[in-house]
Amino acid sequence: MSVSPTRHRLRRITSAGLVASAALALVGSAVTTATAQTAPDEERARPGAKIIGGVEQSNGAHPWMAALLSKGSGNPADRQFCGGSLVSDTVVLTAAHCVTGTKPKQVEVTVGRTVLSDKRQGQLRNVRSIVSHPRYVKGNEAYDLALLELAKPVTGTAAVKMPTAGTDALLRPGAQATVIGWGNTDTEVPSFPDRLRGVNVPLLSHAECTATYPGYNKAVNVCAGVESKDSCQGDSGGPLFRKVAGRTYQIGIVSYGEGCGEQGAPGVYTSTSSKKLWDTLAESPEGKRMKQLLRR
Ligand code: ARG
Repeated sequence: MSVSPTRHRLRRITSAGLVASAALALVGSAVTTATAQTAPDEERARPGAKIIGGVEQSNGAHPWMAALLSKGSGNPADRQFCGGSLVSDTVVLTAAHCVTGTKPKQVEVTVGRTVLSDKRQGQLRNVRSIVSHPRYVKGNEAYDLALLELAKPVTGTAAVKMPTAGTDALLRPGAQATVIGWGNTDTEVPSFPDRLRGVNVPLLSHAECTATYPGYNKAVNVCAGVESKDSCQGDSGGPLFRKVAGRTYQIGIVSYGEGCGEQGAPGVYTSTSSKKLWDTLAESPEGKRMKQLLRR
C-alpha cells in the first residue's frame, strides 16, 4: 500500500527524535506492506510506550468503525493499514496520509467488523472514489483528511455524528475522549492486534500541543494523550470520539505523533469540529462533490 512510511512522524531535531523516527519509519513500512511485523534492530526500548495502554473492544461496540484493507487474498489482519469511520451510508472518513497515491481499486473497506480476521463480521465494500482534502500537502501534516466513497451503501448502520462545525464544546482540555484502532500496541516489540482496541485519552489545549509540535495547526488540529496512553502506527485515519448524552461524536481523526505514548509527545488529530476544515473542502471540484455527499 502506498502509505508513505515517513509521512506521519514529526521531524524534530533531537537525538531521541531521530532514533524514534528511524525506528518508526521501519515500523511504518511493516504496517504498509502488512507482512513482516518484527521489530527492526534499530528499535529502541522506550519504556512507557505501550493503541498503547488500551483494552479490547467487544463485538458491535462501534458499528460505524471502519478498517481500510489492501485488496488481496491474505488474512485481513495482515492487510489492514488504517482506520476510518462511517459518516454517511456511502462515505468513510479517514486520514489523507492513509490514501495518498492510492487508487480506489487497491483498497477495500470493512465497516462494523471488530475482529479483522473474522470475515463474517461487518460489511465489506469496494471503493468508488477517493478524495483527499485539497489543502492537504504531503510532508505537511495539517488537513489530514480524506473521504472514501463506497461502491455500495452500508445498510442498517448509523453513521457516527460530527460535532457542529466551528464549535469547541467537545474539546475542553482535560475532558476524556476515546480513540480506537487496530494499530500497534507496543512500541518495544511492535504488535498488531486482530481485535479492535481502544483507550481513553485526555484532550489537551492548543498551547500544550504547540509546545511539542511546531507545525501544529490549531485551526484544524486537536491533541490528546498522556504518557503510555495514545494511538500509534496503524491507528491512523481512525476516530477520536466522545459519548455525550448517549450519542457518539467523532472529534478527531488519528493523524500523527512523535513516537507513541511517549512523555510530552501526545497524539495529534485532525479536528472534525473545525469550520475551516470543512469550508476549505470546497476549494476543489472533487471536494465540493464530497461535501454534497456529506450534506455539509
Ligand atoms: N501516522 C500513524 C499511522 O499511520 C498514526 C500515528 C499516531 N501517533 C501517535 N503518537 N498518536 O498509523
